[in-house]
Amino acid sequence: MSGTDYQSDTLNAFTPEPSQARRVVVLISGSGSNLQALIDAQTHDALGGEIVAVISNQPDAYGLKRARDAGIDAVALPHREYDSREAYDGALIKVIERHEPDLIVLAGFMRILTPRFVNRFLGRMLNIHPSLLPAYTGLHTHARALADGVTEHGCSVHFVTEELDGGPVALQAEVAVAEDETEESLQAKVQAREHLIYPIAVRWFLEGRLQLKGDQATMDGLALPPTGMRLSHQDAAEELDEDVDEA
Ligand code: GRF
Repeated sequence: MSGTDYQSDTLNAFTPEPSQARRVVVLISGSGSNLQALIDAQTHDALGGEIVAVISNQPDAYGLKRARDAGIDAVALPHREYDSREAYDGALIKVIERHEPDLIVLAGFMRILTPRFVNRFLGRMLNIHPSLLPAYTGLHTHARALADGVTEHGCSVHFVTEELDGGPVALQAEVAVAEDETEESLQAKVQAREHLIYPIAVRWFLEGRLQLKGDQATMDGLALPPTGMRLSHQDAAEELDEDVDEA
């Protein structure tokens, strides 16, 4: 080996690997306002990774336009074209895996998932749900909370497991329910908080801080309580420039 070769080998050995952006695939069915919050965070270098594809089971979902406008690969995969839930989820797995994601983000993806799908992505799939889980799993959460006369409502980011809306919670944000609250006003306040906390939780995951270990969510290696971390109404209202006397 000549001296020159030796030097070039040494230099090569010290060439740092180009750092690779963490890859995110987002699944939607509708408006995609949470998707937009994630896109905005990415634009401000606050997501900790890159949204490489958005997939919708509804071909006319507005969120697909949001993705295209942001230069993100937008894929319509209509569930109506498949004979069974298993067949659809099998096709969805293939499309997702083509994009080699580190994280799958459900953002208003209105489908019941098969166990095969959930287990394929266990520990690297997050969902956002419009309630303070474990309260009000399922649909129509705002109307049900108002009907019960609760004083506190909110939203939760959680890991997806086989139990519907039942996976370990990472992060929640509270809403104090006002005297004159309507379903619409409550939904608007909850959604504003969804847009606040989802990009934060995604970033924590992509940074390796938020993990699923067994059946527990952990942050920086420490097990989180069953309701995860929680942003108070007051703190969220301040972040969002809401009138804090409103509630
Ligand atoms: C959100 O309210 C979310 O909590 C629920 O579905 C809704 C999606 O809204 N999972 P968008 O499509 O993000 O506007």
